[in-house]
Amino acid sequence: MSLLRRCQPLTRQCAKRNAAFSTWGAVRQQQQHQQGSSSSSSSPFDDQKTTHFGFRNVPETEKESLVHKVFANVAGNYDVMNDAMSLGIHRIWKDQFIRSMAPGPGTKLLDVAGGTGDIAMRFLDYCRNIHHDSTASVTMVDINAHMLEEGKKRFQSSPYAKTNQTSFMVQNAEHLDAIESESVDVYTIAFGIRNCTHVDRVIQEAYRVLKPGGRFMCLEFSKVDNPLISKVYDVYSFDVIPVLGQVIAQDRDSYQYLVESIRKFPSQETFAQMIRDAGFSTVGKGYESLTFGVAAIHSGFKI
Ligand SMILES: C[S@@+](CC[C@H](N)C(=O)[O-])C[C@H]1O[C@@H](n2cnc3c(N)ncnc32)[C@H](O)[C@@H]1O
Repeated sequence: MSLLRRCQPLTRQCAKRNAAFSTWGAVRQQQQHQQGSSSSSSSPFDDQKTTHFGFRNVPETEKESLVHKVFANVAGNYDVMNDAMSLGIHRIWKDQFIRSMAPGPGTKLLDVAGGTGDIAMRFLDYCRNIHHDSTASVTMVDINAHMLEEGKKRFQSSPYAKTNQTSFMVQNAEHLDAIESESVDVYTIAFGIRNCTHVDRVIQEAYRVLKPGGRFMCLEFSKVDNPLISKVYDVYSFDVIPVLGQVIAQDRDSYQYLVESIRKFPSQETFAQMIRDAGFSTVGKGYESLTFGVAAIHSGFKI
């Protein structure tokens, strides 16, 4: 029986228990706002292409703005909440992500869905500490200006404040209009791709902007491979994280969405195949599972 099927009874139970706080609340709010009406129990999406937003189906055209709203809400508390939700483990994963990248001096990184700059900061620290290099540079792009603003503030009090090693741009990962083709050495996306409407388009854009020989790297939540850990993880995700969101950030809905979106993301194997389908070459199976598969690092080369 697949992991997903094993998880279903528990996730359904949790989703039901949390119904009042589910992402459906956000979806309905948006529909009502757009339609100027307050009631309709049938699905208004029948004649439109739909996608998932957490456990709910929404029109593809609406997902981007719903995701935008989530991250605009969480931006101010994002770093604190990341530590609280992951018990600090996200730091270990991000450190491992950069170690596995092992960037050389002068590397030009594009960090997509860069948020508050965790990957960009670690990348520049690595180049500085390991190579004494100040020629590496990172462009952070994100669809959400609120998240980038938090990142900019952080870099202002860093060793990179008055250098030309950082730049910030509002861009959609699905069409990086301001980024030239074959212009970057490494492309990273950490905990961002599962929020995108068309994951395949994101990977194709990564392929376009990378130089020949360049590397695509993704850090994302993935599928837990141990049944016992999977049960504990489900309880923690659905019963604890939304409550932490409420207590720390006064925002249960956004954190409910975040845990639901994790369950909707493909398995390690499926995602590795999507990366190969976009034209990347992978080494071995193309990924490394972290903490029983709670997260995974995927990597592909543009050969
Ligand atoms: C969970 S945060 C991750 C931030 C950072 N990479 C980190 O690891 O801490 C996800 C980020 O993805 C961004 N995002 C969501 N959809 C996006 C899209 N289509 N294009 C670019 N960024 C997107 C959000 O605005 C948010 O900043």
